[in-house]
Parts: sequence; C-alpha cells; structure tokens
Amino acid sequence: MPAISFSGGIAADMGSTNTYIILDKASDVYKSASCALVDAVRQGEVYALGDEAKRLEGRSSDEALVVSPISYGAVADTETAALLLLSSIEKASGRRKLVDKSRLYLTVPCMATKVERTALATAAELTGAKHITVIQAPVAAAVALKRHVEKAEASLVVSIGSHITEISVISSGGVVLSRGLKRGSNEFDKVICDYVRKNTGLLISEAVACELKEQMGSAVTPETDMTQTLSGRSVKTGRPLTASVSAREIAGALQTPVSAIIDSISDALCNIPVEFTSDILKSGIALTGGGSMLYSLAQKLEAETGLDVYQSDESAFDTVRGAFMLANDDRLLRCVMNAYSAYEI
Ligand SMILES: Nc1ncnc2c1ncn2[C@@H]1O[C@H](COP(=O)(O)OP(=O)(O)OP(=O)(O)O)[C@@H](O)[C@H]1O
Ligand SMILES: [Mg+2]
Repeated sequence: MPAISFSGGIAADMGSTNTYIILDKASDVYKSASCALVDAVRQGEVYALGDEAKRLEGRSSDEALVVSPISYGAVADTETAALLLLSSIEKASGRRKLVDKSRLYLTVPCMATKVERTALATAAELTGAKHITVIQAPVAAAVALKRHVEKAEASLVVSIGSHITEISVISSGGVVLSRGLKRGSNEFDKVICDYVRKNTGLLISEAVACELKEQMGSAVTPETDMTQTLSGRSVKTGRPLTASVSAREIAGALQTPVSAIIDSISDALCNIPVEFTSDILKSGIALTGGGSMLYSLAQKLEAETGLDVYQSDESAFDTVRGAFMLANDDRLLRCVMNAYSAYEI
C-alpha cells in the first residue's frame, strides 16, 4: 500500500483537549478532540478516536469510557496517543494510509518532564513516521506570531491552553526560561457550572459551560448584556429544567479564575531577570493558546501588566502553524535546534 508522504512534513500539536494537524502549505489546520473511547476494563481496547469519541462522552454504555491520552499537555498513554495522532493525520488527509515516509514535527510544552518527552517521542515512533522532530511549543508559537526568535533580543510568550499555562522567554532561538502552571481555560468551565448550579439550581455539563464561555464569556464586564437559556437537570428534583443566565453574570463568575491566571503571569513577570526586561518592555507579550481567546482577556492582561499584548486571530492554531513554518525553514529550524529548543529523534 503506498504511504502518504508530505514533502514539507506534517506538523502536530497534541494538547490536553485538542489535537491540531497541518499537512501541507495549502491545507487548513485540522482540529480534533484529544480523546479516545476505550473499554472501561481493558483500557487497551479503543473503540473510537478524536471527535467521534468526544461525541460519545456521557452517552456510551458503562463498559466504555472517554479518556484523554494527553494530560496537562503531556502524553500520559503512549499507545492511545499514537493511535490518536495516526487517526488525526488520516482524517486530516482523508486517506486511510500510513505515514511511514513522512517527516513529523511535534510540539511539546516546556514544562513536560523527560519521561513525558520520551512518551511523546515513543508515540510519534509508533505512528511509523521515519523522521521525527520535537519542537518546544512556545518557540513554535513565537514563530507563528512573527517574533524574531533567532535574534538575541528576548521575546515573551504567554500560552493559555485548556489545562496548562506557560510563560516563556525566548532569545537566540531558544527558551531561556519558562514557568509552567497546571491551570488553564477548563477552570473557567468549572466555575461557570458552579455558578449556574448555585444561582439557578440547574445542573449543566462542563461541555455546555464551555460553549457558554466561548459564546458569551468575557474577562471584563461587558457593556451590553445578553441572556441565554440553558437546559439541564434540576439539582433538587433531578428533572429536566431550563434557566437563563446573563453575560454579565458569566463575566462576574469568571473574575476569580481569570484574575488568578493573570496574577500568576504577573508574578512570573516579576521574576524575569533584569537583562531581559528592557527587551520585553519594547516587544510586549505574545499571547497564544485557545484559552487566551476568552473575550477581552488580552485587554485585561494589557491593563494589568502595562505591556502591549499581541495576538493572532486564531490563537489556538499558533503552535501548530509555527511548527509547520519551522518544518519549512531549514535555517530557522537549525537555529532553534542549536539552541536546544528542537531536536530530532
Ligand atoms: N473563543 C473562545 N473563548 C474562550 N475560550 C476559548 C475560545 N476558543 C477556545 N477556547 C478555549 O480554549 C481551550 C482549548 O485551547 P487549546 O486547544 O489551546 O488547548 P490544548 O492545547 O488542548 O490544551 P493544553 O495546551 O492546556 O494542553 C478550551 O478550554 C476552549 O474552551
Ligand atoms: Mg496546547
């Protein structure tokens, strides 16, 4: 069977919630849920992967369980992660074939341990890819955000994902310091669930809360208010129930977790060595990750830190886009490799 071979390489960013793939210059970013439907007893048995598995969350029988092979941005289950990666590449390409002649460029968070980096490498090898390059995620995001990563001037990248937040300083192609936090945008979903339960007596799923956050969530109180009707189950009776919630209420509920993330970022900024601060004052913050797409979060971060904040239109795609750009720029990739922020397996 002929194999898929993408000359420029395939870029992949496997996150705790989403996996992003770019196959070639012309293709869009393919996005899929980072989850698998597995046998609850023999977890090696995989029934569905990606969005198909996600759709069955809470709807499958007791014998099947939806799990994520990626935990806090790192591979926790090597074999399932390999299957997810392979299946995502196949779905992105629309072809059920192997990737065994392709070059694979994978991103990894800076906070991943050596064991977790090895697990990612093993998962990539299990796909059968011949050449595998691992790139530190903030460097890839910085490339996509057009920071001059190869220059000695320092750039600051703040990435807010679903489960992790990373604050990294990049200079001369490498990450010179990084602070990782095990907190991200999924905390916002939990807070919305709690708020709705306490204030309306309605139980909603985290998936519903996530939709609410993406549609009407805001880091600051919105000038114009709007209301949304929600369906769920009554806390008291267990019966189906509807209730309404307003955008201002959601913004109020989000205040505590949003401030906690911004405070952690500000605290990390206070600990940046003085030799980098003048560069960062000039270049500001490159803000990335799906969690940073919360409405007005960039504006709040700018107000709280006093630094200019730069963001793309599709922050969740920055890391995979940057990995793909590096895959197609030998000179820049070599510079990043020389700074130990990318390596071949
Ligand atoms: N428009 C939006 N407003 C608010 N939040 C958003 C928006 N779009 C996406 N998100 C949130 O971004 C998060 C997903 O971001 P991303 O795909 O970068 O995470 P991930 O890479 O899977 O996770 P991690 O990097 O933590 O391992 C989800 O919590 C999602 O709800
Ligand atoms: Mg991520």
